Amino acid sequence: MDIKAFQSAILEGIPEVLPAAKAYDPNINHAPKRKEILNDEEKKLALHNALRYFPEIDHAELAPEFLNELNTYGRIYMYRLRPDYEMKARHLDDFPHQSRQAAAIMLMIQNNLDYAVAQHPHELITYGGNGAVFQNWAQYRLCMQYLAEMTDEQTLVMYSGHPMGLYPSHKDAPRVVVTNGMMIPNYSKPDDWEKFNALGVTQYGQMTAGSFMYIGPQGIVHGTTITVLNAGRKISGGKTDLGGKIFVTAGLGGMSGAQPKAGNIAGVISITAEVNPKATHTRHSQGWVDEVISDLDQLVARVEKAKAAKEVVSIAYQGNIVDLWEKFAEENIKVDMGSDQTSLHNPWAGGYYPAGLTFEESNQMMAERPELFKEKVQESLRRHVAAVNKCTANGMYFFDYGNAFLLESSRAGADIMNEKGDFKYPSYVQDIMGPMCFDYGFGPFRWVCASNDPKDLAISDKIATDVLEELMKESPEEIQQQMADNIHWIKEAGKNKMVVGSQARILYADAEGRTRIAAAFNKAIADGTVSAPIVLGRDHHDVSGTDSPYRETSNIYDGSRFTADMAVQNVIGDSFRGATWVSIHNGGGVGWGEVMNGGFGMVLDGSEDAHRRLTNMLFWDVNNGISRRSWARNEGAVFAIKRAMEVNPQLKVTVPNMADDKMIDGLFQ
Ligand SMILES: NC(=O)c1ccc[n+]([C@@H]2O[C@H](COP(=O)([O-])OP(=O)(O)OC[C@H]3O[C@@H](n4cnc5c(N)ncnc54)[C@H](O)[C@@H]3O)[C@@H](O)[C@H]2O)c1
Repeated sequence: MDIKAFQSAILEGIPEVLPAAKAYDPNINHAPKRKEILNDEEKKLALHNALRYFPEIDHAELAPEFLNELNTYGRIYMYRLRPDYEMKARHLDDFPHQSRQAAAIMLMIQNNLDYAVAQHPHELITYGGNGAVFQNWAQYRLCMQYLAEMTDEQTLVMYSGHPMGLYPSHKDAPRVVVTNGMMIPNYSKPDDWEKFNALGVTQYGQMTAGSFMYIGPQGIVHGTTITVLNAGRKISGGKTDLGGKIFVTAGLGGMSGAQPKAGNIAGVISITAEVNPKATHTRHSQGWVDEVISDLDQLVARVEKAKAAKEVVSIAYQGNIVDLWEKFAEENIKVDMGSDQTSLHNPWAGGYYPAGLTFEESNQMMAERPELFKEKVQESLRRHVAAVNKCTANGMYFFDYGNAFLLESSRAGADIMNEKGDFKYPSYVQDIMGPMCFDYGFGPFRWVCASNDPKDLAISDKIATDVLEELMKESPEEIQQQMADNIHWIKEAGKNKMVVGSQARILYADAEGRTRIAAAFNKAIADGTVSAPIVLGRDHHDVSGTDSPYRETSNIYDGSRFTADMAVQNVIGDSFRGATWVSIHNGGGVGWGEVMNGGFGMVLDGSEDAHRRLTNMLFWDVNNGISRRSWARNEGAVFAIKRAMEVNPQLKVTVPNMADDKMIDGLFQ
């Protein structure tokens, strides 16, 4: 399809003449059939809701088709309306537009639905099995049409994928305001998502899917690398050289598949167990893991050889992680770091494969004898923990990777609690990301070159490196290591070839780093060094955006980790300080009802206005979270917020006074 036809297809929105029905394409990865949750009355309501997008003349044709989709797939996706053009990031000026900011948002939306990027592209799901950009194709078409028509004096309002409309605003207002899954709190249980999503009135936006900010696997490789590096340092008194250190974990799936690649970048010997041969094959053939071994004796010999030579190597163990831990415990192999990324947030339906059963036996048992399967999972978790405990007794540092390993093990009655009634092991945020990164304001900073030109990305990498190197010269001791890690990462990023989809990059920086890099990008756009605007954003795995008591905010100990004021304040504050779009989501990563995520996107076009907005908004976006972490009495955050107040005297934050433990304890004796 040529560019003119592409542009007129976007401008057409929902076509006046219905396109022909589309055949279901079996060659595409499709979302699983969703659970049957609506009764007949509710199905009628779902049909009324879906037909709202179409003139009455089409209803008789569409109603049975939509009912069939609802009965077959559990949702109405309106497959027939899926456009015929290729879904991908393009130069922003290829999108029909009145506002370049809106064109950049169109680029981001299409990237989230690109076949190379999205998990279930025909169901508009970007990642995580349920992370939706829109609920159906009518919403997609309408949204793109509004974006193409809108000016910089309007704001598009999106309710969980549904474009409510364009509203008059002003040039400094966000072009788009996104909410996803905002529920009355009592209606925020997992089955509420199933029901209200099937009705077509809400959606699960995950973190970056429903905010159009997903950039493929690069984000997860970076985050995992930072985690492994910092875990390594934690156990070696801050030393950076992790040569010869052994990291054992499980999972070569969607996110977990980043572990071996991250292990190599961090310079360790990693061993990752994976039961599903297809997953192992995928990661091995992609070059994300170096070697595959399925015999435990061979594995032990290979690990000893790697250890002796301090090799940097990633090994997949084709088999069950429990067998691996038991073997290493029995052979007294000294493991330095251990973790787990099986999908224990979903333990009974394929997230965790119990030891003692083959992969196929498990698949059969979970469908045919679910109660027995549950017993097997719990028995396996008890063995799993017992073997991990032996290795930690032998000096290993073990951490939970946000996959509910500790929680499910405790529910299974495994020996995972300490005498105080807490988990024996920390989560990666409690011990690593929280105190080492988030409390100091270090978090994800991502950008996308809206020219879609790799040359611009290479130039932007160089600009970011120069800024960080300059900043590092004046950085206090406390943040030197984070600066050094990210400089190393960005220098290697081009060589590591991690771009999938849009020309995007990620690194971790603090408020000052993010602001200075953004300002340098804006200048480079103004003077033509970078050929087109750059879109800034972040994921929500960050200092400020996310309230998630068992993950991002798990190192908040003043009781406020079950509140969500920070995420909500973040989005409100970003929106009047210059964000090009803002989003707030219920759910993401850990589950519907378990987390609130706030996010933003910001288009830099080289203008003075863009400079003013980036300076104002990025400072708030990071320091909001630091303030809250500081108020929770986190030492690193108290340090960071005092430093921020020195940088900008207009910032005045309430700083906590620390009460003496002994004095308070004394009242209870
Ligand atoms: N990477 C991160 O930064 C991060 C952050 C937070 C949470 N998580 C969590 O990590 C988990 C994994 O995410 P994912 O996207 O990779 O999921 P996934 O389901 O795609 O991958 C998990 C893999 O584990 C394998 N597996 C299951 N049981 C096993 C066993 N007993 N032995 C060996 N292999 C086994 C599965 O076959 C699967 O390939 C999720 O719970 C996710 O929420 C990851």
